[in-house]
Amino acid sequence: MKKTYNIAIDGPAGAGKSTIARLAAGQLGFIYVDTGAMYRAMALYFLRRGANLADEEAVGAACRDIHVEIRYEAGEQQVLLNGENVTGQIRTDQVGNAASAISKYPAVRAALLELQRSLARTNSVIMDGRDIGTLVLPDADLKIYLTASTAVRAMRRYKEFLEKGVDCTLESVEQDVIRRDEQDMNRATAPLKQAEDAVYLDASDMNISQVVEKILSLARERGLEA
Ligand code: DC
Repeated sequence: MKKTYNIAIDGPAGAGKSTIARLAAGQLGFIYVDTGAMYRAMALYFLRRGANLADEEAVGAACRDIHVEIRYEAGEQQVLLNGENVTGQIRTDQVGNAASAISKYPAVRAALLELQRSLARTNSVIMDGRDIGTLVLPDADLKIYLTASTAVRAMRRYKEFLEKGVDCTLESVEQDVIRRDEQDMNRATAPLKQAEDAVYLDASDMNISQVVEKILSLARERGLEA
């Protein structure tokens, strides 16, 4: 069987993980696995039902009825929620915040763990998320902890929202980034933290291609190419 390689990228919301991971995966001939999209698909399920996200027991019990799948179309990850392709419906702030809220529940995380691991077993992947280097793929060949200052992350998100025509202020986006960090870093289960053997990259003063190049050079140093 062909050898597969795994690269884990963890970091806070808005650090540029998905853009960078997608570009680096393309260069290396790996697939890009966006685990946040899986949590977002689960969050969408609960939002559609108007579920109380604070009710851990009910959310946990409902996980039995949720089936998340990943497919690739023209190299782009598609997320299926109980057979429905919801890729185009999960990129809102409402869904992101709901994903952050439910992802603290062990039952929600358990529902996605095997999907994440099986993708990494059978493919060379760059997988991004919050706990990939620490818990999902502890033996990854390369681990990156990608971050940027709160102000830089808020400004990037703000610009993305403006481009999409979303009505917001820089202050509200910054508050949201701070709230998400607080929620993702301080939860008891699988909090966002740097794995001991991860390379720390602060991208506050780097552009996208500089970060991609840095990751590619780290990958090539380790002989990780498809
Ligand atoms: O990366 P993102 O913004 O799409 O992720 C949405 C939320 O999902 C994030 O705030 C926390 C949660 N998440 C997680 O807990 N673990 C992951 N591996 C990925 C995302």
